[in-house]
Amino acid sequence: MVKFYDLQTITAMHADEYKEAVARVIDSGWFLQGHANLQFETHYAKYIGTQHCIAVANGLDALYLLLCGYKEMGLIQDGDEIIVPANTYIATILAITRNHLVPVLVEPTWEHLEIDIDKIEAAITPKTKGVMIVHLYGRIAYNDKLGEICKKYGLKLLEDCAQSHGCAWKGIKTGALGDAAAHSFYPGKNLGAFGDAGAVTTNDAELASVIRALANYGSEKKYVFKYVGINSRMTETDAGVLDVKLKYLDEDNRKRQELAAYYYTHIQNPLITLPKRLDDENNVYHQFPIFCEHRDELQEYLKEHGIETLIHYPIPPHQQECYKEWNHRSFPITEKIHAQELSIPMNQVISSEEAQAAITALNSFKRP
Ligand SMILES: Cc1ncc(COP(=O)(O)O)c(C=O)c1O
Repeated sequence: MVKFYDLQTITAMHADEYKEAVARVIDSGWFLQGHANLQFETHYAKYIGTQHCIAVANGLDALYLLLCGYKEMGLIQDGDEIIVPANTYIATILAITRNHLVPVLVEPTWEHLEIDIDKIEAAITPKTKGVMIVHLYGRIAYNDKLGEICKKYGLKLLEDCAQSHGCAWKGIKTGALGDAAAHSFYPGKNLGAFGDAGAVTTNDAELASVIRALANYGSEKKYVFKYVGINSRMTETDAGVLDVKLKYLDEDNRKRQELAAYYYTHIQNPLITLPKRLDDENNVYHQFPIFCEHRDELQEYLKEHGIETLIHYPIPPHQQECYKEWNHRSFPITEKIHAQELSIPMNQVISSEEAQAAITALNSFKRP
């Protein structure tokens, strides 16, 4: 059996170091807002290349707090619009609507799978305040044209980096490309905690301090509440573990890139389409999505041959029950991606035998 994501083996690689990090927290008797958080924030900000990092409880909160911070600063108001890819994970959209903002869904390109930057200008209205790009699957969603558009129209460039730890554009890491960025450290991410965790990175000192307060009940001073905040703090144990994992992130990403190169060379089946290959700097392969008109049959066939796969994602946001008001809308490229996408095993512990087994099964799949 080739597991989709073998978290047990991945964790075992540096288990002793994680145990030491957790033991340090236990011995300190200090479990929130302590030394481990401070250390991880400092190291992650340095890694990303921003002046500030605010550790929070999960990626959804990071997205929510980022937008909420701009609202508290008076830069965004209820009813304002945020441009966002139609084919993102639901969290990106939830963070926008939970802030009483309007997501303006823009199609991705079929080749790149990321927001179609050529369609962004047409989506801008007087109410547009920002563009939230999502580096989905670990692929870069930014290019210089997007930066110019945001500058030209005075829009905030925001990043959802939940799937792109370590990915970069011309040497600048995702998370430092725009005005502010949200990160998720969900256990299955390239940089994953032992539970939920997240962060915001930014060079904006005011935004950073507003978000820090918002994540702590809206408080800058104990028992004095400046904003209507939430409780969204990273545990000290998670911060300690993430600080260890951060040291291995680039090496892990390199292994993912090697596996991807192997897949690109050896997957040869006319029924299967591979996504456009990007330079390694631009893709940290959080997922390796492949596309097939007979996706469900392919998934079943792979399962019978011992290859685990997942679909990212079976239903696009505009067709979800929670957004009934958009169910009638049509986003053909998004819908095609969601109908055909299948993620094959991709991580830092897949052996060459396992990769070969996946390729053999993929190449022997025939039209049902
Ligand atoms: C693109 C994207 N955005 C946001 C999130 C939300 O992160 P979390 O699960 O940590 O809340 C995720 C991951 O789950 C994601 O994949």
